[in-house]
Amino acid sequence: MSKLRKTILGTVVLLMSVTSVAAKPEHSAAEKQWERGRYLVKIGGCNDCHTPGYAQSGGAVPEKDWLVGDRLGWQGPWGTTYPPNLRLYMQTLSEKQWVKTAHTREYRPPMPWFALHAMTTRDLKAIYHFVRHLGPAGEAAPAYLPPGQVASGPVVQFPAPPKK
Ligand code: HEC
Repeated sequence: MSKLRKTILGTVVLLMSVTSVAAKPEHSAAEKQWERGRYLVKIGGCNDCHTPGYAQSGGAVPEKDWLVGDRLGWQGPWGTTYPPNLRLYMQTLSEKQWVKTAHTREYRPPMPWFALHAMTTRDLKAIYHFVRHLGPAGEAAPAYLPPGQVASGPVVQFPAPPKK
C-alpha cells in the first residue's frame, strides 16, 4: 500500500471512530427512554388488554407483538369496547398531542384512563417513544359497539352494576 493510501485509510478510520464516539450519548439517552417506556408498559398493565393473549399466557408474548390491539371485546352497560392498536395509534400523534390527550381524555370501561391521568409527563413521553420505537404493526381493532348491538366475536361479559 502506498504511503498516501495508508494516510487516507488512517484518516477515514479515525473519522469513523470520532463520529461513533460523538453519536453515542444521544443514542444512549434514547435507549434509556425506551427502557423506561418498556418498564412502564409492563408494570402499567397495558399489555393485559392491548396485546392478544398476554394475560392468558402469563406475559409470554414477544415484544414485537406487543400493543397491536385485540379482537376480544369487553361488554357491559357501556356497550362493547375493543382495546385499540396502540402501535398504529402512536403514529398518528405528536409527542405533545399524546401528552395532552393522555392527561385529559376519559375512555369507556375497562380502559383505566385515570392511570394515564396520574402519570407524569416524563413517563407519558417514555411510553410514547417506546411504542413508536416498536414501530407500526398489526391492524385496527374492531370499532366500538353501542349497548344492544351484538358483537360478532368473543366478548368478556361484565355483570350489571349493583342495584342502588
Ligand atoms: C383492562 C383493559 C385495559 C388496560 C389495562 C389498558 N387499556 Fe387502554 N383501552 C382499553 C379499551 C377497551 C379501550 C377502548 C376504550 C373506548 O372505546 O372508549 C382503550 C383505549 C386506549 C387508548 C385510546 C386509543 C385511541 O385509539 O383513541 C389509549 C391511548 C390507551 N387505551 C392506552 C393504554 C395504556 C398506555 C395502557 C397502560 C397504562 C392501557 N391503555 C391499559 C383497555 C385497556
